[in-house]
Amino acid sequence: MALYLKAAEVLDKVERKEGALKTLVYESKFQNIKQLYALVCETQKFSSVLQDIITSTKLLKQTKLRMSLAKVLVYDFMIGQGLKCGGSWKAMMVKHRPRLQAALARLKVKKKVSSNQDLLPAYIQQASETQLPRYVRVNTLKTTVEDVIDYFKREGFSYQGRATRLTDLHSLAGNTFLCDLHIPDVLVFPHKKDFHDHFLYQAGHVILQDKASCLPAYLLNPPPGALVLDACAAPGNKTSHLAAIMRNKGKLFAFDLDAKRLSNMSTLLLRAGVTCQQLAHQDFLQIDPESPQYSGVEYILLDPSCSGSGMVWLHDSSPAPPEEEKNRLQALAAFQQRCLNHALRFPRLQRVVYSTCSIHKQENEEVVTACLKDNQGYRLVSLLPSWPERGLPPLTQCLRASTSKTLTHGFFVALLERQVPGAEDDSQLELPTTAECPKSVSGSVMEVVPVSTLTKKKKRSKKKQS
Ligand SMILES: C[S@@+](CC[C@H](N)C(=O)[O-])C[C@H]1O[C@@H](n2cnc3c(N)ncnc32)[C@H](O)[C@@H]1O
Repeated sequence: MALYLKAAEVLDKVERKEGALKTLVYESKFQNIKQLYALVCETQKFSSVLQDIITSTKLLKQTKLRMSLAKVLVYDFMIGQGLKCGGSWKAMMVKHRPRLQAALARLKVKKKVSSNQDLLPAYIQQASETQLPRYVRVNTLKTTVEDVIDYFKREGFSYQGRATRLTDLHSLAGNTFLCDLHIPDVLVFPHKKDFHDHFLYQAGHVILQDKASCLPAYLLNPPPGALVLDACAAPGNKTSHLAAIMRNKGKLFAFDLDAKRLSNMSTLLLRAGVTCQQLAHQDFLQIDPESPQYSGVEYILLDPSCSGSGMVWLHDSSPAPPEEEKNRLQALAAFQQRCLNHALRFPRLQRVVYSTCSIHKQENEEVVTACLKDNQGYRLVSLLPSWPERGLPPLTQCLRASTSKTLTHGFFVALLERQVPGAEDDSQLELPTTAECPKSVSGSVMEVVPVSTLTKKKKRSKKKQS
């Protein structure tokens, strides 16, 4: 029984976006983590199918179960390996078995499929085939890339040096790992590796974070000593990345509307050794940019609530009806635009990174375009020329990410910079060059190579070229 209660609790937290599914499972402290993880993942995958069955059989009304609990029970009873409990829940499921079976059969007939697996929505079937590598960000507040590489090598992993092409990440297997080709502090392991109970993760020396979600802090690149604001910060992975880039020097204001997420974030930051933060349970839109406390803010990371359409595993129900989905996207885009406009009102602001884990143009390029129109003192900075997926034209200065082109979740990042009147148009985009990836294939000789030529000259204006 405890298994199903825990699984339902995790699903409720995922629904409330209190954290990533895997992290929530590991934080649940359930004795059999693997069993819980498997059940939650599978139930999540079949969520829309289960919802259909539960709704059509009116199971909630008949049993007084809540939806998440009904889903995990029906999953294991009908699709999974059979209920692992006896008692009243088993009796309840057995009683409703004929109606549940009939509903499942009707669904298969309706969708013209014969197996349970074929009932899964297409995006989940595709996602199951796309196996993203396991990205591990080294927390440079606590350790160095070199030390982490050494640690893994001592554990029997074979370090392959720095990746030079994306296909290097795809072909990782067994106990091999690489240094990422785009982001210096990121290590890449084969997709099956799970480090949630690894010492380095538990001690905050590494952060398990998708590579695309490391882009915003990396590109904002606030220098140590800066005044930085993370507008929609929880659960805080990007905040801890910002603090690492700032080397804990300066001030990092972090806001979130959700108290529970903020409290989880506080634990995460403590574990990561972040000390330069000032957390507040506050609506970013209510912050007065001119107030003495915040008027000096120079850098803002804005990663507001979005549809989450880029997250491979987070889809938990079948797509909403088109009209509902359209309204939802419209509301989100309006909120995102208000947030970005608000960020651009801070009088000392130099740069703002705007990011979403959405694949919709409406939440990405359209938000940025509208804000640039209203704030002509800002311009887009052209990002990482070697990044393979660009913002949709004409916003090709921005980055997009996807499972197919960048081996990450779907993501969007734009960097807006204040234009200084009369300044030359050839300012440089400085990016962290602190980390160095030891180049070692055999593991014996540690030759050190610079991570990248990360300083990029912007195009000179026509006037300057002539
Ligand atoms: C996409 S998540 C942020 C993820 C976070 N940047 C990270 O990397 O861990 C969006 C967050 O914005 C918060 N939020 C939504 N509206 C807000 C507002 N008006 N002010 C502050 N936070 C808000 C939500 O509670 C949610 O935690």
